[in-house]
Amino acid sequence: MTQVFGVIGNPVAHSLSPMMHTAAYRETGISAAYVPFHVKNDGLADAVRGIRGLGLAGINVTVPHKITVMEYLDELDETAELIGAVNTIAHDRKENKLIGYNTDGEGYLRSLRPRMRKPLSETRVLLLGAGGAGRAVAVTLARKGVRQLTIANRTLSSAEALAEECGEGVRALSLETAQASLMEFDIVINSTSVGMTPNTGQMPISLEKLSGRTLVSDLIYTPWKTRFLREADKKGAETMNGAGMFVHQGAMAFEIWTGIQAPVKVMERIVVEKLREV
Ligand code: ATR
Repeated sequence: MTQVFGVIGNPVAHSLSPMMHTAAYRETGISAAYVPFHVKNDGLADAVRGIRGLGLAGINVTVPHKITVMEYLDELDETAELIGAVNTIAHDRKENKLIGYNTDGEGYLRSLRPRMRKPLSETRVLLLGAGGAGRAVAVTLARKGVRQLTIANRTLSSAEALAEECGEGVRALSLETAQASLMEFDIVINSTSVGMTPNTGQMPISLEKLSGRTLVSDLIYTPWKTRFLREADKKGAETMNGAGMFVHQGAMAFEIWTGIQAPVKVMERIVVEKLREV
């Protein structure tokens, strides 16, 4: 029987997940469909009941439901619990259980690893932003033993709260202080929404003090290359956009649902083709 997967969000029409997962099913010979479901805030409880009622196999969760959805699930895996948000639900139909996972942070780390020049335990990271995406990245990096993590945010108190949750040794700074001490870091990650389409002229901080040895990573992938990454290029730094994180969070969801290795290259190819068209 064809299995049905999908993504719930609001908005959801722009999501690249249906195309990416459909390509993965085709490649691996799995008989499945992946559907975008537009779910408004007041429809979330019914939508989750629908996963059970219709016997859907698995669901991705996107903005604005990643936190609120947790209360409707039966179990959370450890990472989802630590991050405090769910982006993937697996439906155990034998036990009639919905289990929440979060593959955003680990997906990001998978996309980062091939670009790292040193082991994580020797890497000093500056993370800009302390919202949902930043949280997943910060918690994951801290848990995986990054040498030093510094979180900078426009609202300093949010950076401080996140740093505290990440554990001992994680620092919080203002964006201004971070900007002035850029050369201390091996990797700089933008997890703020600054620079995203349509505000493509904006940057979260100035890169004037950036060293060419730094890897600059932006979680944004629309536009394909933010102004932040273009300025980093000019400084001779290596750059990466957020498409890899998107692909790997999806690949990990695929693996949780199917138990088989995701065809990452195929998933990546289709996402890159689509995004580069824009
Ligand atoms: P997401 O889920 O995409 O991470 P979010 O949770 O709304 O979205 O978080 C947005 C992040 O971008 C926050 O860190 C936010 O900073 P504040 O905590 O100060 O709001 C940051 N951000 C958004 N607009 C910004 C701007 N114009 N300048 C600096 N930071 C900005």
